[in-house]
Amino acid sequence: MIIEKTDFLIIGSGVAGLRAAIELAPYGEVIVVTKDRPAESSTEYAQGGIAVALSDEDEVGIHYEDTLRAGDGLCNEEAVKILVGEGPERIKELISWGAEFDKEGLKLDFTMEAAHSRKRVLHAHGDATGKELERVLLNKVRTFSSIEKYPYAFTKDLIIQDGKCYGAYVLAGGQMVALIAKATILTTGGAGQIFARTTNPAVSTGDGMAIAFRAGAVLGDLEFVQFHPTVLYAPSAPQFLLSEAMRGEGALLRNINRELFMKEYHPDAELAPRDVVSRAIISQMVRTNSNHVYLDLTHLDSDFVKHRFPRIYATCLQYDVDVTKELVPVSPAAHYIMGGVKTDINGATSIKGLFAAGEVACTGVHGANRLASNSLLEGLVYGARAGVSAREYGLEARINGIEVEALNINESKYIKRRSHDITRFDIEEIRHSLRKLMWEKVGIIRCADSLTEAKKKLDKWSFILKEEFNTRRELELQNMIQLAQLINSAAILRKNSVGAHYRSDIPFKAEGWQKHIIFRKQKEEVVYDFIS
Ligand code: SIN
Repeated sequence: MIIEKTDFLIIGSGVAGLRAAIELAPYGEVIVVTKDRPAESSTEYAQGGIAVALSDEDEVGIHYEDTLRAGDGLCNEEAVKILVGEGPERIKELISWGAEFDKEGLKLDFTMEAAHSRKRVLHAHGDATGKELERVLLNKVRTFSSIEKYPYAFTKDLIIQDGKCYGAYVLAGGQMVALIAKATILTTGGAGQIFARTTNPAVSTGDGMAIAFRAGAVLGDLEFVQFHPTVLYAPSAPQFLLSEAMRGEGALLRNINRELFMKEYHPDAELAPRDVVSRAIISQMVRTNSNHVYLDLTHLDSDFVKHRFPRIYATCLQYDVDVTKELVPVSPAAHYIMGGVKTDINGATSIKGLFAAGEVACTGVHGANRLASNSLLEGLVYGARAGVSAREYGLEARINGIEVEALNINESKYIKRRSHDITRFDIEEIRHSLRKLMWEKVGIIRCADSLTEAKKKLDKWSFILKEEFNTRRELELQNMIQLAQLINSAAILRKNSVGAHYRSDIPFKAEGWQKHIIFRKQKEEVVYDFIS
């Protein structure tokens, strides 16, 4: 096994990881590990924008209230205060590093999205906001010689000794490498790939949550998965997001009989909270015996649409849908997980030396349902905060020294075995079945029966968690099964409906709804608790 030492290890290179790296770079060597190319993350694909209280008619206090309302009573108020309060500073900093947000004349242009009471969402190049953030942050990262990018390296496990984290075992170029670090930050993003329909890129397989769980970290709020209402539904097309900003600019939803329906479900109609819109779409699909509804932009000025949403326009056109002239078939898809590795407001997890930020983390900012476009802001604000905490912890570790020799480097983490030696089961078939199961039984609308059925199937796949795997696809499957089991358990334990978690058998906030469900691994057992 190869052993390398660094000061700080960051696993994941989306907005949170890059922002954390920038914070740490002046204080030591930083390695940013990523299992794919450095720009491949959910950040890169984010369309709608980044919410921030910077417009003349907005206030931090109103952003705070909107975030709490979307979170449906389960937000960590302190964490939200930090998010909305530090957000403007983080955005101004980004602009000073070269971010080009769209403007109306000389002023920043803010758009509307669901559940915001003000136009608050900044966007770049129309609908390529995430790409712009990734560009600016990667450029900034390049200015620090202390940051080393470590692409195509899959993190198998964390290095844990005496309950503390000292880096990670990563599989890179067919070799197992022990990357020893004074402080480690997880910024691996979300887990949308465990659902058959998702807006998330192929890399979003919940790795960070699964490896943290295996290491003994506390995970929480996993039952809260947000489904985006409007994702392209065409047989040969990818599951491509049609940004909520389109409805913010006036796009309408129609069922397959061309009827408007959102007013029947919520006074805010197309701009109702995402969970309400997703469930309304599902109920229309059932009512009309169809597998999609339509997003209608045909009444909007076509030049405006092409200019405002150039990437969406061009992508849909590739699949023979002209969004300016025809109705766009859409249906919901898994989009964002509010839960994750529990952290405090400084990004510290329950394991010393391990920090987390962005979608992999659960600071409590999103509660039971995330306010649209708050996630890029969360990545910036909490990525920077996790960087500060890791720096402080790392400096302490430096004083105490980290001795490779004293660490119990587990050589058995790399068993030399080629993946095609496995003939007992087909990992691709299981991956496909898992995604279908999660979508059908643990999706937008759940109930005791569907969740129990899912549990039986998921339990059958538990043996896969014990296999010694050493390829990315195999290790991803282990992580996906691990996380799917936890999400399903959380959904069974939460016997009420709140935020994005909707149980058709208990469609209301039943007693005890204010509690959070947490999980941790103790010895080989999964233990859970309800906490306030
Ligand atoms: C969108 O553009 O609709 C997605 C924005 C978000 O999920 O925050």
